[in-house]
Amino acid sequence: MSKLLITGATGFLGGAVLARALSDASIESILLLVRADSANEGVARIKNNLANFGCSEVLLSKINENNILLGDLAYSENFLNDERLSSVTHVINSAAVASFGDNALIWKVNVEGTLKFVKRMADVSGLVRFVHVGTAMSCVPEAGTLVTESMARKPEEEHLVQYTWSKSTIEQLMMEHCPQLPLVIARPSIVVGHSEEGCRPSSSIFWVFRMALMLGKFMCSMEDKIDVIPVDYCAEALLLLARRSELTEKVYHISAGDAGSTQFVEIDRAMASALNQNPIYATYQQVDYSELVRNRRNFKEIYGPCNERLMLRAMRLYGEFSMLNVRFSNKKLLDLGMSPPPRFVDYISRCVETTRDFSIPELMKVDFK
Ligand SMILES: NC(=O)c1ccc[n+]([C@@H]2O[C@H](COP(=O)([O-])OP(=O)(O)OC[C@H]3O[C@@H](n4cnc5c(N)ncnc54)[C@H](OP(=O)(O)O)[C@@H]3O)[C@@H](O)[C@H]2O)c1
Repeated sequence: MSKLLITGATGFLGGAVLARALSDASIESILLLVRADSANEGVARIKNNLANFGCSEVLLSKINENNILLGDLAYSENFLNDERLSSVTHVINSAAVASFGDNALIWKVNVEGTLKFVKRMADVSGLVRFVHVGTAMSCVPEAGTLVTESMARKPEEEHLVQYTWSKSTIEQLMMEHCPQLPLVIARPSIVVGHSEEGCRPSSSIFWVFRMALMLGKFMCSMEDKIDVIPVDYCAEALLLLARRSELTEKVYHISAGDAGSTQFVEIDRAMASALNQNPIYATYQQVDYSELVRNRRNFKEIYGPCNERLMLRAMRLYGEFSMLNVRFSNKKLLDLGMSPPPRFVDYISRCVETTRDFSIPELMKVDFK
């Protein structure tokens, strides 16, 4: 890889990609699309984020103003004429509004702005690979299945949140509008924590497990499985997909697959061990949403100061996802020589350690931007 452009490097996945890319000798230069008022502020935002990924001072010192391309995907036209884009050879596009909330920017950024950016990059003659970061959930999987990669789409009304609908739509539009783009779509499953740094880079989704276990009841069965990977594994896979010269497939899951997915009962055990508590398996109740609503008066006692309505909204949304019991096949990725990911329960103690001082309402903010 000679000239790599990364979008979303102030975020969770993009930050992990950059942290890893900085020590990759095959990369000649790195350009980062960043939202900031100045290149100097852009550098500071990137370094702040990288510090959460355990990057050494030596690696941090490699970032300077020349790495920064100031730009906002909601206003793509303002940065698309930057000449540096014309010499990019590889792109890892992880910028998006990754929120289960009702954020008005989801469509403008994830679909409209991204499509303009993709069209610009499709005109770059030396572009070798454009890795677009999708999400495995955008296919609206059938409950209880092992899902394989497919471009089949479900209609908007079947999506639980606008975010997954936007991610499904942009994949389709990129294919339709830019057939010449050397596109590979990477669809991570559920990215939780970092195998070494725990939740220091982000508490995204980790709080859901804690929230359910603290309540002692939730919508999934303890026997259900969930497909979770750590962010550093995801980053390594994205770089592999960017670097590999011949790829026979257009779409790859980055996932734990059937073998690496984890049962909630295992998560309960691992979490309890990390917290020095007893697992709640014996008393856990699988309930429907209406039972969670009936418990709302207890939320403040269990979780501390919180907004009951937001807690319920989170429980309904993530409760529905938790009941899916889906695994995403990782055969295609493993066939490329990628090793399987560490299991969630093998690094859960680091996630517990790094979130110990925060309440659930504090941890969940990241997913309701
Ligand atoms: N986390 C997961 O479990 C997961 C699973 C599957 C797929 N994904 C996908 O992975 C990608 C990254 O997600 P993430 O979890 O890393 O999210 P994140 O931590 O919220 O990071 C999002 C990144 O996108 C940037 N961004 C947002 N709006 C932008 C805009 N208008 N212009 C330019 N940049 C913008 C953010 O920049 P600012 O810092 O300026 O806001 C940030 O760097 C997304 O495409 C998501 O769909 C995530």
